Amino acid sequence: MAQVLQDQVVFITGGASGLGAAAARRLAADGALVVVNDLSLEAAQKVADEVGGLAYAFDVSDSEAFDNAVDDAVSKLGRLDIMVNNAGISPPNASSKTDRTLSNMGKRMTGDISSIEPMDYVIDMSDEDWDRMIRVHLYGTFYGCRAALRHMQPRRSGRIINISSVLGLYPAAGAPHYSVAKAGIITLTKSVAGEVAPLGINVNAICPGWIDTPLLTPFSEQMKAGIVMRIGKGRMGQAEELAEMIRFLAGPESEYCTGDVYPVSGGYVG
Ligand SMILES: NC(=O)c1ccc[n+]([C@@H]2O[C@H](COP(=O)([O-])OP(=O)(O)OC[C@H]3O[C@@H](n4cnc5c(N)ncnc54)[C@H](O)[C@@H]3O)[C@@H](O)[C@H]2O)c1
Repeated sequence: MAQVLQDQVVFITGGASGLGAAAARRLAADGALVVVNDLSLEAAQKVADEVGGLAYAFDVSDSEAFDNAVDDAVSKLGRLDIMVNNAGISPPNASSKTDRTLSNMGKRMTGDISSIEPMDYVIDMSDEDWDRMIRVHLYGTFYGCRAALRHMQPRRSGRIINISSVLGLYPAAGAPHYSVAKAGIITLTKSVAGEVAPLGINVNAICPGWIDTPLLTPFSEQMKAGIVMRIGKGRMGQAEELAEMIRFLAGPESEYCTGDVYPVSGGYVG
């Protein structure tokens, strides 16, 4: 019997690790042909080999490289059905400010606001930090939508799944560039979805909460414990749990879902 995603071609950015790799495995398990992008060819190839797919190394903030890879994959596999714009980089490494964060939390709890120390997240942020965060997430997602639509529109069929974040819904102090980029992805998703819905193409965004992937490696154990305290489920999510939402939005069950935003947060209260 044919599998539900039999011969559907899916292109996943940042697919060598975390959510992207879990999505590659999950979609391949239902019959999809998976194309894996990442910065390192070796890392992308490893996941592609595991799922019997193709690998492309490029930076998603390079629009020409993005277009070339998508065009090449379509010329080899004949079509593009599902685009998962997932590549991303970590919110800032706040570990060096853990002591200040904890001390300020104590002061807040006792109402001692006047002695709270400045955190300096904004003041310490360089032009390059700001630019890179917006480029990888927001520009990368736009380039991915555009490259995919060039192939999906003529066939009047397709699914685009953009990975935003709960920080795109509830911005985090200390990560203005990450929060802005992820909020931008939500607005981009809705705008593009409205344009292409009559053409049979669904565009949705997923807002993961806190998921245990290498993205969070820079966070100290104390910072992670502080985050987990705000997650109703009392633990971070697993990449495989997110992959189930990606699978839903990639498959026929989500036909009426477009321009929509799906948090998967385990009850995170920001
Ligand atoms: N892990 C979380 O808690 C969490 C929460 C909310 C949203 N997200 C988002 O989920 C997505 C996947 O994150 P993850 O947790 O799996 O992280 P991860 O670090 O495990 O994987 C991200 C992958 O993207 C790749 N990548 C980074 N920059 C790239 C670029 N410019 N071009 C191509 N590839 C690039 C990395 O090399 C890496 O393999 C990201 O967009 C992230 O912002 C993650």
